[in-house]
Amino acid sequence: MNILILGAGGREHTLAWKLKQSAKLKNLFVAPGNAGTAAIATNIPIGVNDFEAIKKCVLAEKIDMVVVGPEDPLVNGVHDFFLSDANLKQIPVIGPQKAAATLEGSKQFAKEFMMRHQIPTAAYESFTADTLEKGYAFLESLNPPYVLKADGLAAGKGVLILNDLQEAKDELKTMLVDAKFGNASTTVVIEEFLDGIELSCFVLTDGINFKVLPTAKDYKRIGEGDTGLNTGGMGAISPVPFANNDFMQKVLERIVKPTVEGFKKDNLPYKGFVFIGLIKVGDDPKVIEYNVRMGDPETEVVIPRVKNDLVEVFQAVANQSLDKIDLEIDERAATTVMAVSGGYPEAYAKGMEITGFDAIDDAIVFHAGTQLKEGKVLTNGGRVLAVTAYGADFKDALSRSYKNIEKLQFDKMYYRKDLGFDL
Ligand code: AMP
Ligand code: GLY
Repeated sequence: MNILILGAGGREHTLAWKLKQSAKLKNLFVAPGNAGTAAIATNIPIGVNDFEAIKKCVLAEKIDMVVVGPEDPLVNGVHDFFLSDANLKQIPVIGPQKAAATLEGSKQFAKEFMMRHQIPTAAYESFTADTLEKGYAFLESLNPPYVLKADGLAAGKGVLILNDLQEAKDELKTMLVDAKFGNASTTVVIEEFLDGIELSCFVLTDGINFKVLPTAKDYKRIGEGDTGLNTGGMGAISPVPFANNDFMQKVLERIVKPTVEGFKKDNLPYKGFVFIGLIKVGDDPKVIEYNVRMGDPETEVVIPRVKNDLVEVFQAVANQSLDKIDLEIDERAATTVMAVSGGYPEAYAKGMEITGFDAIDDAIVFHAGTQLKEGKVLTNGGRVLAVTAYGADFKDALSRSYKNIEKLQFDKMYYRKDLGFDL
């Protein structure tokens, strides 16, 4: 099989690393990819939303399957684009069609989906500029903290959690009237605050059958002790120690099954990953959000624990025969620690040379924001490298991730040294 992966981060490098291990794989392409994918696949310099260029590449390279990493092309309808083109429609795309991708593209759509299918989540109401006064009244009816969410995609920045009522009202107005997040905040969802510990559950579905993948927990804040600004994720661990069998049984019955059933009932074709952001409130799981793709850096700990041939698994997704696959999960824990560029998630420099790869022994370095230039690996993003290791438990794995990340260097490299502190 010839496979094309869309994306350029640690998630895509991990998927490439895993697909590469399959005897069924012939040629692997990544668009646009990074220095890590360049070492194991052919990078194609096209953007993930340039569907015409993707089509050209797919036909020229005789691609048999497309695996979509990030949400953007899914929300923009890349899967629908393939299905509507006579030359592309028989080529499987791993990632949902636009209608289901709206679960990530619109918070309001996701909330309505959960209400319709009785999936536990925070109580909410949504507002527009026309209903600003009603929004104020709703805020007054809630206890702090107040949770304000821009309805649309806002690059992970569209959620505000505020303690002060007046500040919450002011922010609501800024979002609705002054378009704080552009079109993404034309509608704002206000939610009940849920107090608990977060984790993520990953599901792979073919639209009929599904498989639950290992759980993971990521660390979103830039600073130690979960302080400072939100990032895309500073590291992750899998499995999540507090997600025991009882808890996961609740997740399965109350959330995963009704979600996949909901896709069927609502006629939302879905072949791909579902990333369910959960919060454990007391002993009960509630859904914080849906994403229609794998997480990053969660992929860097979830996929290395899947022992199956991933090409076979994706073929089963395409053929709707996932029920024939027995997932085999590595008993070991996996952790990843993200090395980021100084300044991230605010302004940071690019183009610094990265060294130390040769010294890595019992870890895997997945590239996130890197670029190969004249034989050198240079930084090319805020999140630069994810260092994944296995261990008997997360502490053991973390000690290996840390031992190895110390061997890597670039100017102003930073990483959190306290992952797992809360467990
Ligand atoms: P989201 O983009 O919906 O995942 O929200 C971003 C982050 O905000 C989540 O990872 C949570 O940490 C936090 N969050 C979102 N909704 C709530 C809520 N209802 N209660 C408490 N925290 C929340
Ligand atoms: N690590 C969070 C995400 O991928 O959205």
